[in-house]
Amino acid sequence: MEFSELKIIVKRLYKDHIRYHLKRIILCLFLSICIAGTTSSIAWLLDPAVKKIFIEKNQTLAWAIPLAIILTFSIKGLSLYFARVNINIVAERISGELQKKIAKSILFSDIQTLDSRHSGRYISNVQFDCGQVSHFVSTGVLNLMKDSFSVVLLVSLMFYQNWKLATFAIFMIPLAGGLAKNLGKKVGKATTEASYYSGNLVAYLSDILRGSRMIRIFQKEDQETENADNVITNLVNKNLRVASIMLRATPIMEALTGFMIAGFIFFSGKLINSGELGLNNFFSFLAAMMLAYQPIRSLATINMVAYQGAAAAKRIYIEVDKPIRIKNETHLPNLNTSKCDMTLQNVSFKYETTDDKAINNINLKFEGGKISALVGRSGAGKSTIINLLPRFYDPQDGKILIDNQDIKKVNLKSLRRKISLVSQDVILFDDTIRNNIGYADSNASQEDIEEACKFAAADEFIEKLPNKFNTMVGENGVKLSGGQKQRISIARAILKKSEIILLDEATSSLDTESEKVVQNAINNLIKGRTTIIIAHRLSTIHNADKIFLLNNGKLLDSGNHEKLIETSKEYESLYKNQLK
Ligand SMILES: Nc1ncnc2c1ncn2[C@@H]1O[C@H](COP(=O)(O)OP(=O)(O)O)[C@@H](O)[C@H]1O
Ligand SMILES: [Mg+2]
Repeated sequence: MEFSELKIIVKRLYKDHIRYHLKRIILCLFLSICIAGTTSSIAWLLDPAVKKIFIEKNQTLAWAIPLAIILTFSIKGLSLYFARVNINIVAERISGELQKKIAKSILFSDIQTLDSRHSGRYISNVQFDCGQVSHFVSTGVLNLMKDSFSVVLLVSLMFYQNWKLATFAIFMIPLAGGLAKNLGKKVGKATTEASYYSGNLVAYLSDILRGSRMIRIFQKEDQETENADNVITNLVNKNLRVASIMLRATPIMEALTGFMIAGFIFFSGKLINSGELGLNNFFSFLAAMMLAYQPIRSLATINMVAYQGAAAAKRIYIEVDKPIRIKNETHLPNLNTSKCDMTLQNVSFKYETTDDKAINNINLKFEGGKISALVGRSGAGKSTIINLLPRFYDPQDGKILIDNQDIKKVNLKSLRRKISLVSQDVILFDDTIRNNIGYADSNASQEDIEEACKFAAADEFIEKLPNKFNTMVGENGVKLSGGQKQRISIARAILKKSEIILLDEATSSLDTESEKVVQNAINNLIKGRTTIIIAHRLSTIHNADKIFLLNNGKLLDSGNHEKLIETSKEYESLYKNQLK
């Protein structure tokens, strides 16, 4: 990262976040002045201490000066404490604001954008990168203020005590700065790499947690342990590299300090002997120089923290700035449905990551109020069509109309309100059964939910659960069987009361017995609605009003079962091999 880029990102951080916390930062600025003032007062106090107490043997000051020193240290301690408390509040809040932005961008982003990245990377953004930005604010901003003031005051004191010595000492400062400057860019780059590996680790962890059963049945525990070792070792190495670059400043700074003190003793010896420098000035100067060491060192390394923070902020901004391609545009009119005819006109769609079109110039009409079915071999494009209707993706070519309204030209919320989707993988939150069903309608009463469950044939098993509707379902419903989960998802769809029902292999993962129960539930769900079904077994699509046969993203044929079995070889072979 170049300095110009760093500037842009820090400016943006300022504009979007930091300036809203200016009050606290200004308070920190004042406290920083206190810290700098007290620090240099301590160095200055050594001057009268040596002169009045040791040389002139003043009895009153022998009391007063130590007391003053205690007081100054206490003020310094308190200022430092309040400055850190306040800057931490600012840093944590800013990190929180960024985390909220990431969460929002995940929630509003289009599916294609989300598909393009492993979920682990988003988690790493939220944790690793926001942590880095917070560190940049808490350490970087405060140190910049308090250390620059301290250096200015301490160096002024050095000049006050003896300008010749001070001129010598001040030459060391740009040297320290120059040497450490280079390290900043390196540390920014290394941190970006570390962040990448941190993302890998989170992604890997989520994979092995999700794949826990598969790993055990394939007995890959040892192999995965090795993979885990690799992923973690990579991250450790990158983190070590970051640390080692940051620490590289230490020997440079120590050596410089050595030079400084050696030269100082050499020169001051001469100056004392020639009577140009009093012992009191010597001590005060020495103290100021020693006290200036820490802030100079911290200022020399501050650019590393800045590059680190800016690199992290950049990674966050890349994500939150991604344009949302499919979003709710409130100025568009609502979708008005009467019959719910759905028409695809010359629709073609290609996933970003593939070369072939998943849907290739399809024209068809799903009749409103009827049951339509999509059949075809796996990969034919059935689910893709279903995903185009609620605009999870937008086709590159062609139009989709619902009751003659282009779905791209209506308000997205009003479109999705009309559609219920029940698919093979049921998504449940780790919450109670009631809340999982009520997700469809936050105003639903207990009676509404119970009624939906009755229609979904879910009431019986829920009644048998120890906590009934308050039973926690576990992560993605692990505590329920496949059929139970599916019935909850159907109850949820029933509660949504939408006109259009999309069923994507809703019963495919079930055994025959639960399939029957679920099929009854589905029949209740789709009664009087416009329905599109994708199903493995013929029994479920047998009574569809119209069946569309797809192959390789193209529409081969359509008609009811009796017609297709006569006219289509493909349908016949599907029917014989698969649908039964
Ligand atoms: N998210 C995705 N990203 C890239 N390619 C996909 C994605 N989903 C499906 N595909 C591809 O699109 C084609 C159609 O898939 P799909 O509509 O899921 O078929 P199916 O008829 O089995 O439901 C397949 O070749 C599949 O590999
Ligand atoms: Mg599918």
